[in-house]
Amino acid sequence: MNNFKKAVSNDLFDCIKAISPDAVITENDILGMFEYPPDANLGDIAFPCFKLSRILRKAPTIIAQMIAREFKSDVVSKVESVNGYLNIFVSSSYLVDNVLIKIENEKEKYGSDGSGVGKVAVFDYSSPNVAKPFHIGHLGTTVIGHSLKMLHQFQGYECVGINYLGDWGTQFGKLIVAYNMWGDKEAIEKNGVDELVALYVKFHEEAEANPELNQLARNEFTKLEHHDEANIALWKWFVDISLKEYKKTYNQLGIEFDSYKGESFYTDKMPAQIEKLKEMNLLKLDQGASIVDLEEYNMPPCLILKKDGSTLYPTRDIAAAVYRKEAYKFDKCIYVTSAGQSLHFAQWFKVVELMGYDWYDQLVHVPYGTVSINGEKLATRTGNVILLKDLFATAIEKVKEIINEKNPELPDKDNVAEAVGVGSVIFYYLYNNRIKDINFVMKDALSFDGNTGPYAQYTYARTCGILEKSAGMDINVAPVLTAGEETELLKVLSKFNEAVRNAIKEYEPSVITRYIIDVCSAFNKFYHNCQIVSAEDEAVRATRIRLTKAVKTVLGSAFELICIKKTEKI
Ligand code: ARG
Repeated sequence: MNNFKKAVSNDLFDCIKAISPDAVITENDILGMFEYPPDANLGDIAFPCFKLSRILRKAPTIIAQMIAREFKSDVVSKVESVNGYLNIFVSSSYLVDNVLIKIENEKEKYGSDGSGVGKVAVFDYSSPNVAKPFHIGHLGTTVIGHSLKMLHQFQGYECVGINYLGDWGTQFGKLIVAYNMWGDKEAIEKNGVDELVALYVKFHEEAEANPELNQLARNEFTKLEHHDEANIALWKWFVDISLKEYKKTYNQLGIEFDSYKGESFYTDKMPAQIEKLKEMNLLKLDQGASIVDLEEYNMPPCLILKKDGSTLYPTRDIAAAVYRKEAYKFDKCIYVTSAGQSLHFAQWFKVVELMGYDWYDQLVHVPYGTVSINGEKLATRTGNVILLKDLFATAIEKVKEIINEKNPELPDKDNVAEAVGVGSVIFYYLYNNRIKDINFVMKDALSFDGNTGPYAQYTYARTCGILEKSAGMDINVAPVLTAGEETELLKVLSKFNEAVRNAIKEYEPSVITRYIIDVCSAFNKFYHNCQIVSAEDEAVRATRIRLTKAVKTVLGSAFELICIKKTEKI
């Protein structure tokens, strides 16, 4: 509806100027005043005349009546004045030319306004800690992060996706000790991360009874920091084993990263920033540790160096941000993590500001709430955390059961089950406002009715089925809109760009997830109430087939924005 609003604001401007030539108002002022009426009987957009009352020195109701009388516009079918509001109805010809035909012309680009062209956005997301479980808590950063990247890319931003792996730190000392004492090379090669996690867990158990192990671990980490060959080789191997496994999950999600520069990459980039902090007198000693005092900003101090001189999580983040600004010249750098890290980001963003980096306000933290799981127990081999891969595997298994029961002849069953299973988890997760804590209920996520992934994918497959049936029919006939369902559908399709813009503005993929449901329900109403392929009239049939194709295009784009794979058949 954005373009519609623009067109109407131009015509309204002309109308207001005709009524009152000295009125001090611009098209842009008008554009900013439109509202969406609470119900469809009150128009597709509404224009409140209250603010005009001062400019035109007349009562709002009088202004509304005057405009309603004088208003002329090609894009509007009717205008009504009601209690100081102008209720404006979009014309069918506008919907055909500027929605249906526009989608046909722009195809996968429809919905993008190119507002990101020429700008660079960096996304720091997923970023699991090597040799620790990749669990359900990482679902948020992975899918919200990727979705935000896709949204920006869609708008024309040049995007860089970074997996800032937690690949450095004292846990590697522990892992090296554990491996040297109890490790089994073959088992690790076979079982991957699970085996590393098991070693890590065993280290902690043993260290309880035998605390000297901790000192051994510190020694091994120091050796690693000094590039001890054997330890570097082990460390690289641990990272590779872990990455191999993460990549399986990323594959299922259709995610690729542009960079895997993890924490280890920044070890030699920190000293320069520490030096700068010292020169600027920003570092303070606090019980032996070096901190930046943030009391003035109502935050606890930001820790830069431990007592023993070793660096910390914020130190690395500061060095990484400086590096990224130089390497990518970003216009924004977006970090997606659980809300538990909000303070950490607020603190080091402040430190970057105090250091005089004028791009501090281009750093954005996008937090999200926690996930808990209800209902069925998912099998894990690593204590009570739920691994993401197990969650996906369970969903895929369940979808397979449903397919075997309902549509056993379906070709390519395994891929469909994977797309629908993984898609159902993502969809369920991204349906809610990101900051809300969610309770994951597999049964609900997998339901085919309700606002779910399977429902959306089923609707997409339905458009594919109709288009398959209509293949070869002549659809190059001037479109005609004859049913309210068609108009409603086009109105929903016209709002795609607004959904994209809002999702970006609020860093909120759920705007797209909910938009998908709006499209699906408008389409399914249309499908149930209107004959499509079997419509008698040639123009009606052609229009409806073209509408179906437009829905397929928009749904396809929207799916991609939230990491959902498309399936032509279910
Ligand atoms: N590895 C961290 C964790 O799992 C997340 C890293 C987030 N990104 C960052 N630049 N700090 O908690």
